[in-house]
Amino acid sequence: ELFVSDEAVRPAFHFTPARNWMNDPNGLVWYDGEYHLFFQYNPLGSGWGNMSWGHAVSRDLLDWEELPVALEHTPTEAVFSGSVVVDRADTSGLGGDDSPAMVAVYTSHDLLTGHQGQSVAWSTDKGRTWTRHPKNPVLDIGSTDFRDPKVSWYAEGGYWVMAVALAIERVVRLYRSDDLLVWTHLSDFGPAGSVDGVWECPDLFPVAVDGDPARTRWLLVVSVQEGAPAGGSGTQYFVGDFDGTTFTADPSTEDVSWVDHGADYYAAVSFNDEPHGRRLLIAWMSNWDYARQVPTHPHRGAMSTPRAYELRTAGGRLVLAQTPVVEGLPGPVHQVTSQPVCDGVHPLPEDFRATSTVLTLELDPGTASRCGLHVRAGDGERTVVGYDAGERTLYVDRTRSGDTGFHPGFGAVHSAPLDLAAGEPLVLEIHVDTTSVEVYADGGRVVITDQVFPSPGSDGIALFAEGGNAHLRRLTSARAPAPGPA
Ligand code: FRU
Repeated sequence: ELFVSDEAVRPAFHFTPARNWMNDPNGLVWYDGEYHLFFQYNPLGSGWGNMSWGHAVSRDLLDWEELPVALEHTPTEAVFSGSVVVDRADTSGLGGDDSPAMVAVYTSHDLLTGHQGQSVAWSTDKGRTWTRHPKNPVLDIGSTDFRDPKVSWYAEGGYWVMAVALAIERVVRLYRSDDLLVWTHLSDFGPAGSVDGVWECPDLFPVAVDGDPARTRWLLVVSVQEGAPAGGSGTQYFVGDFDGTTFTADPSTEDVSWVDHGADYYAAVSFNDEPHGRRLLIAWMSNWDYARQVPTHPHRGAMSTPRAYELRTAGGRLVLAQTPVVEGLPGPVHQVTSQPVCDGVHPLPEDFRATSTVLTLELDPGTASRCGLHVRAGDGERTVVGYDAGERTLYVDRTRSGDTGFHPGFGAVHSAPLDLAAGEPLVLEIHVDTTSVEVYADGGRVVITDQVFPSPGSDGIALFAEGGNAHLRRLTSARAPAPGPA
């Protein structure tokens, strides 16, 4: 394959591999000062295939250094999604003389039989080189759709727990182990919630409630390949309890709860051993409906911003709230305050122009039926981030965002319920990057993540109101560093 270098489509603050195809984040773990991001990777091309684990490390979750491929596919084995733990107590016996083993548990997809089993590989040099275990696969139930093991340490019980998907059955199966090699079945969860698509990439973990680390509940995050609110793939969650054997979802979560209402947030999984006690997740910012057609070169596929997940009480129930982690970005560099936003579109001054920036907006909808921002605007292109007062929704309209023609469903409007009380301003944090927009409303309880492919010259930002007048309280912009390879 010939790679046409086009760095104009390289995100500035979202991870992309220097070249080739990427999907799910894998093996997210912090160890000895480094955040590790492994990922589903095709070392040989920009389409899905030859699945291997790519690898990158970062100290601040913003600057990533891409390292050589960690786990290469073989003629008979595709290395599918999975997780990594640091085996500090050497439960597996795989540790080195003076270094614990990083142990990867991943799905071996047998290319001859279509079989999927869970396999182990380990590293004693901070994830730089890996050895496959001779007993692989260590967990095999004879299934062709048994994948994406997420292993973590269950401190209360003193054992390892694995959540893994029986994809076709829409079941998350839980196992336990003392040594990461022998696994015992604990229980099954599902089918439940959204079952239109196959279930993939489950993750089960405790999260803080209402900002109080002493109060935790359990969250089960499950990716679903079809039937998400913006079409195609999406990520759902269940709130509940885990007693060491069984995950029980709260009855209040009988309706489907979506992590994100945009089209591009899939396979979200969390970091093991996050040093600040946060529960941080990264997702693949794409959608199986069109991931293979996305118009970027020489890479194809980008990761979401890492987000801290927690639960908040709202309307008598617990809902997920997400806070993007972009601490390394510069603080606000430009701002405009108090001004009317009359019916119409109002471009911001030149110094707001940016193809990658973090915006914070406080806007009173006033009498407007719709109001908000145009980002990546110019030359007939715009991505609309708005509030619809009649529908009571937050929405992202990417119908005129740039290149939308590569897939019939791509150019669309994605919305999420958002109720503002009378007199309450719309408060948004909007992460604009070269090929994506992530919008956080209501303190992170409503999120929309969408890819967009505007021309590099579309870097304008405008305020707009329709059907009446809004009023701007404050808009700030923090411009991201110039794009560059990972
Ligand atoms: C999710 C997924 C996983 C699988 C991997 C293969 O996007 O389908 O279930 O392990 O991708 O690349």
